[in-house]
Amino acid sequence: MINYKTLGLVNTREMFKKAVKGGYAIPAFNFNNMEQLQAIVKASVETKSPVILQVSKGARDYANQTLLRYMAEGAVAYAKELGCEKPEIVLHLDHGDSFETCKSCIDMGFSSVMIDGSHLPYEENVALTKKVVEYAHQFDVTVEGELGVLAGVEDEVSAEESHYTKPEEVVDFVTKTGCDSLAISIGTSHGAYKFTPEQCTLDPETGRLLPPPLAFDVLAAIEKELPGFPIVLHGSSSVPQDDVDTINKYGGKMVAAVGIPEEQLRKAAKSAVCKINIDSDSRLAMTAAVRKTLAEKPGEFDPRKYLGPARDSMQKLYEHKIINVLGSNDKL
Ligand code: G3H
Ligand code: 13P
Ligand code: ZN
Repeated sequence: MINYKTLGLVNTREMFKKAVKGGYAIPAFNFNNMEQLQAIVKASVETKSPVILQVSKGARDYANQTLLRYMAEGAVAYAKELGCEKPEIVLHLDHGDSFETCKSCIDMGFSSVMIDGSHLPYEENVALTKKVVEYAHQFDVTVEGELGVLAGVEDEVSAEESHYTKPEEVVDFVTKTGCDSLAISIGTSHGAYKFTPEQCTLDPETGRLLPPPLAFDVLAAIEKELPGFPIVLHGSSSVPQDDVDTINKYGGKMVAAVGIPEEQLRKAAKSAVCKINIDSDSRLAMTAAVRKTLAEKPGEFDPRKYLGPARDSMQKLYEHKIINVLGSNDKL
C-alpha cells in the first residue's frame, strides 16, 4: 500500500473548494505518454495552475498503470525542478469501471478515483459508488461519481445516447454515497465528433458547424439542489478547427469533427463546475503537429524531431485552456 501523500500528490478536496469559491475550474488532462505529461507539467508550472493528471482504462492498457503512477510521481519532482515550490498535482483514475480497479489504483498511490456507475440502474450505481467511497476515504482519497449518461462513442467509454442528469436525484445520490464530486450530463460527450451535422446549424460566414448549446438550465437546477458542491464536466474538448484543418491538409481525414465552444466552457467554469476533462483536444494538437512535421520533412526518422513539435503544440494548448477557458492560472 502506497499512500499518495508520500509521493507529493494531493487529493481534490481543497482544490475543488477553492475553485468553486473562486469561480474557476481545474484542468483534468488525460495522459498516456511522456510527451503529454511533460507538456502538462510545463504548462501548469508556467501558468501557476493546479492540475489533475487523468489515467483512463485505455491509458492503463496502453502504458501500464504502474508506469503511469511512477510518471506522476516524477511529474511532482519535475514541476519542482521547473521552479514550482508547491505543485498541486492530483493523480486521478478516469472512468473507473469496478471496485477492484479503483482499489488497485488507490493501493498504488492514486490520490483520486472516479467510479463510473452511470450506465447502471440507479440503486446499483449508488451501492457501487458508496463501496468505493468507503474504501477510498480510509486513505483520504477523493471520489468522483457520475449521474446521467453522456452521448457519443469513444474507445472504452461509450453510450449510445445522452440522458441528462436528473436534478431531483442528485441530493439523494450524494448523500447516500458520500462522493466528493459529481460528474453530470448536460450535453457534452466524449471524442472529436460530439454532434452529428443534423444536430448543428451551419455558420453562413465560416461554413463551420455550430453545435447546440449545453443544457445550462439543468446545470442551474443541479446547483440549486447542491449549493457549492463540486461538479465535473466530461467530454469538454472544443475540437479546434485549425487542428482539424491541419490534420486534413496533411493527409488525415476528419470529416464533421465538432466540439463544445469555448465560451460555453468558460461560462460553466464560473459556476460550480470545478473540474473540466480534456483529452481529445490534446490528441488533435499532437496529431496535427506530427502530420505537419512528417509531411514537411519526409526524410525525418528521429522521433524526437516530430514528437518535440507535438509536445510544444500540446503545451500551448494546455496553457490556452488554463488561462482563457478554465481560469485556473495564478492559483499556486
Ligand atoms: O473519457 C475518455 C477519455 O478520453 C479516455 O479515453 O479510454 O481512449 O484513453 P481512452
Ligand atoms: P474529450 O473527449 O471531450 O476530450 O473528453 C475527455 C474526457 O471526458 C475524459 O474523461
Ligand atoms: Zn470522460
